[in-house]
Amino acid sequence: MGRLDIRPVTPTIGAEIHGVDLADLPMEDFETIHGALAKHQVLFFRDQDISVEAHKSFGARFGELAVHPNDPGLEGHPEVMIIHADETSKRVAGEMWHSDVSCSLEPPMGSILRMFVVPPNGGDTLFASMYAAYDALSDGMKAYLDGLTAEHDGGPYYREVNRIIGRGDGGKSYPSAEHPVVRTHPVTGRRCLFVNSMFTTRLVGVPRAESDAILAHLFDHVKNPLFQCRFTWRPHSVAFWDNRCTQHFAVWDYYPHVRSGYRVTVKGERPV
Ligand code: SIN
Repeated sequence: MGRLDIRPVTPTIGAEIHGVDLADLPMEDFETIHGALAKHQVLFFRDQDISVEAHKSFGARFGELAVHPNDPGLEGHPEVMIIHADETSKRVAGEMWHSDVSCSLEPPMGSILRMFVVPPNGGDTLFASMYAAYDALSDGMKAYLDGLTAEHDGGPYYREVNRIIGRGDGGKSYPSAEHPVVRTHPVTGRRCLFVNSMFTTRLVGVPRAESDAILAHLFDHVKNPLFQCRFTWRPHSVAFWDNRCTQHFAVWDYYPHVRSGYRVTVKGERPV
């Protein structure tokens, strides 16, 4: 595929892309990256010491940027989420399997995280393919889930985050939406599992006990290492993941060290 060097991380998910400057991206490279994201679901780039403006411009080539419903963002750049942990942190972003802001009516298509301070070791991010998770279900479970919808509610998670960090939210309301449990990716046409333990609260039209049991099974199922890759950050590494067909998990094993980055999130479409 063109002049970029694309190195798959596993046969299932993830690729490192070399020979590219995200701040100065010719159309040919943009198209290669677009195609590689569809194929590998999460892309990794090294040595991208780019400005906030260049980070936002790169994201904006894939779609309009989203503002996070519970994060104030970087001063002057509400679309830029600060990902930061140090010795005073009581929590970190993304420390459970999730797809970003799936509680939104139109959940983001992708997120682009650039890390500039990394701990001496640890602080990896795990990514899991929801194509692989869906494909590995039994035919009976696929038949059961196809056609079901689930509620994704931002309230319980975001309120808990605010409670832990002592941030008042003034009784604010958070996004909540009903999405298909199995969605079809708008670019690849492949089916993937679209429930996650951060936001999915119940299967719609299913008795509570059954919904809880099925969701618990699916939340456990997506953790299978066969569906995963793991990324070890270096300063100025960038990860670009497709939220429609992946979940991720940020490992907080480096306390009390510092880990800092900026994330931009690209708006997506209503799942079908
Ligand atoms: C997130 O966006 O969920 C955080 C990911 C990370 O810090 O690695």
